[in-house]
Amino acid sequence: MNKFKTVHVSSGGYDVLIGRGLLFDAGQLISLCRPVCKILVVTDDNVAPLWLEKVTSSLRAAGFETETMILPHGEGSKNLSCYGRLLERCAEAGLTRGGMIAALGGGVIGDIAGFAAATYMRGIAYIQLPTTLLAAVDSSVGGKTAVDLEAGKNLCGAFYQPRLVLCDLDTFSTLPDEILSDGAAEVIKYGVIADRELFSAMLKGKPLDAEYVVETCVRIKADIVGRDFYDRGERRVLNFGHTVGHAIEKLSGYKITHGHAVAAGMAYETAAAAANNLCPKTIAAKIAEANKAWRLPVSAGFSASELAAAAMLDKKIDGGRLAIIIPKADGRAEIQEIEAVDFAAYLQAGERLLSEVV
Ligand code: NAD
Ligand code: GLY
Repeated sequence: MNKFKTVHVSSGGYDVLIGRGLLFDAGQLISLCRPVCKILVVTDDNVAPLWLEKVTSSLRAAGFETETMILPHGEGSKNLSCYGRLLERCAEAGLTRGGMIAALGGGVIGDIAGFAAATYMRGIAYIQLPTTLLAAVDSSVGGKTAVDLEAGKNLCGAFYQPRLVLCDLDTFSTLPDEILSDGAAEVIKYGVIADRELFSAMLKGKPLDAEYVVETCVRIKADIVGRDFYDRGERRVLNFGHTVGHAIEKLSGYKITHGHAVAAGMAYETAAAAANNLCPKTIAAKIAEANKAWRLPVSAGFSASELAAAAMLDKKIDGGRLAIIIPKADGRAEIQEIEAVDFAAYLQAGERLLSEVV
């Protein structure tokens, strides 16, 4: 078996294994923590030709019975229609409560397959086999599962935790640069909110020290989620860049990918915080520098009022109040709440500053 590092996630009590060649060992590794059963491997049409056969062969060699479902790639599949088809496929494949779903792919596959697992027969086991940097450092850990509604991102979902996460760093070798950069945006996020050293490393751009980066981010996330699984308190810091990011995704008709939108979202949100005297202006410049090092955007061409209007159905609005994330200069961030109706003015204040750092 290949070597790996283990990060334990206390909320849910599962392990994230990080190493190379882990998909070839998937069958053995899963059988160490789950009884042999029928597994539906869900993936997309980009990932399938690259990695699916390796996973199913390994599962079969360990005695698992396998079924597969291949969805079209991209955010366009994270909807109710694909979710319904996936549930029907679970039934057609004869999955019972003892069966399992394996999500092989990026965050889109992880989110929709996780939500199907959360709801099929009122919940069956699932595991995450992330194949993008973004999925490895963020979406495969922490149990947020969802699909999008016409009205907005991730509006239909559940908190439901995987039983195991296998991060095979070799899967990054087939990632196009732009998709690697999507993941870099979330890594920059972790650096800003929790780890100065990681942020400094990201300022240098490529190459990526995949093991260091994935392990560091997963440890940060496991720690935070361990203290606040349901996103009511501290976990909200992980949403840095996401309120504006989700608005950008929605306004662009999902043409702008999640990672690129979050990158621009961090730039907007930090410029706004700086302009409202909540953090130093130098942080806005540093974030722009990190984004540029990964060819990520620092703006998205939408005005503050468009962004604020698109954010009004955000899940993070509670009782008319919205949590804003304030990055501090030392690898730390604070959460403050403002009236949601004031969000447009808050963002507007940052527009001028943003144009200075672009
Ligand atoms: P994605 O799943 O769409 O993957 C990006 C593209 O890369 C797709 O075209 C996919 O086919 C392709 N791909 C995947 N792995 C590949 C590989 N190894 N080689 C070549 N191509 C590969 O997007 P993503 O950036 O991984 O995830 C974005 C999604 O994750 C969004 O829907 C976002 O909302 C969600 N997300 C969820 C959480 C969470 O906590 N649940 C956190 C962050 C993001
Ligand atoms: N991606 C943000 C979270 O998992 O809370």
